[in-house]
Amino acid sequence: GRRIPRQPEVNIGTAGHVDHGKTTLVEALTGKWTSAHSEELRRGITIKVGYADAAIYRCTGCDPPAAYNTDGDCTGCGGEPELRRVVSFVDCPGHESLMANMLSGASAMDGAVLVVAANEPIPQPQTREHLQALRIVGVERLVVALNKIDLVSWNDALSSYERLREFLEEHGYGDDVPVIPTSAQRRLNIDALVQAIEEHIPTPPRDRSKPPMMQVLRSFDVNKPGTELSELKGGILGGTLMQGVLRVGDEVELRPGIFDPDRQKYFPVTTKVVSLGTSAGLVDSVEPGGLIAVGTELDPFFTKGDQVVGDVMGPPGELPDVVDHLVMDVELLPSVVGATVPTKVEPLRKGEPLRLNVGTMVTLGIVSEVKGSRVSLSLRRPVCPPPNARVAISRRIEDRWRLVGSGRIIG
Ligand code: GTP
Ligand code: MG
Ligand code: MG
Repeated sequence: GRRIPRQPEVNIGTAGHVDHGKTTLVEALTGKWTSAHSEELRRGITIKVGYADAAIYRCTGCDPPAAYNTDGDCTGCGGEPELRRVVSFVDCPGHESLMANMLSGASAMDGAVLVVAANEPIPQPQTREHLQALRIVGVERLVVALNKIDLVSWNDALSSYERLREFLEEHGYGDDVPVIPTSAQRRLNIDALVQAIEEHIPTPPRDRSKPPMMQVLRSFDVNKPGTELSELKGGILGGTLMQGVLRVGDEVELRPGIFDPDRQKYFPVTTKVVSLGTSAGLVDSVEPGGLIAVGTELDPFFTKGDQVVGDVMGPPGELPDVVDHLVMDVELLPSVVGATVPTKVEPLRKGEPLRLNVGTMVTLGIVSEVKGSRVSLSLRRPVCPPPNARVAISRRIEDRWRLVGSGRIIG
């Protein structure tokens, strides 16, 4: 892969309907194909959220957009490219059955690229649903790629562009949101997309003075089967730091933690940070932004296969309380946009199960009370809600979970 000169500082997501070219676009930007799990290869779709980093350069001798690239070589004037920043891409699945994964990925994004294929009618259902999801989770900075431009005629490209502008307008996004025609597959106009990302998705201000807090997006056991006990490496947690500075040697706690099958309960666990990895290599400390891998002393048995995804990690005693009930101020969407034919969202009902995305955690909540917009729920799996987390609410409609609204936690 390409050399990444320093730690990434911002997370940029992909969003959009299945097969519109999100992963191909991330590959064009980073040189890395993120969907490499066997089932993803077999089905030809992204299932899990994928990650890849890119260093963004600007050539001092060329005019934009040609000045922008992610490989550090200037093909125009042969001049010296200047490193602007390193970004992490959070590549989300587009298939309608994988909205929970998309929402987990969205909670780690600082901005997003909405990928819309130019050779299909606009909008497709998950183009609508992902745009709503970004809004609900609070991802405000948006760049749009009108992709697969190589498959349409000049006139069809123009009418797709106009239809896309109308659609964005209907959702409150004006002309300040850039729409860049691209062909991810043929690597066309990628420089203009990089320029748009540089200009429209700034690195947000970070608070280094707060205690470090990480949302877990992946968890692994990196040991090969049959490894000697004395050789075992501790569990690895992948995620992104929301605030503070995390250092090798820090004591940390994971909440809600690990499930104890005997007591049928989750228990917080404490451990130590033994290593910190970024795409730029091993480091002594990390700051917010970018995907990181945290080596711990946890028994890898507990971290294998993404078992602690959705947990929050931070200094012992300083994380938010773990709750198994939530009271939320709920705002329902006017319509269910994820289905082929949008339908009205009916009011929430006592006793109905809802799927809740709280940060990177997915849990089931049973509605126990509805008083106007104030809704109480009991949770199947407890959560440690990150500060100011906006909850994405999905309801089972026919055979699918569909995004129907959002909630602000009030108790
Ligand atoms: P999901 O993650 O499953 O939602 O799909 P995706 O949006 O990541 O799409 P992916 O990148 O996997 O691309 C789907 C198919 O479209 C692949 O066969 C790509 O080669 C093709 N494709 C992607 N971008 C372009 C493009 O710009 N032009 C053409 N002609 N094909 C493209
Ligand atoms: Mg994909
Ligand atoms: Mg890729």
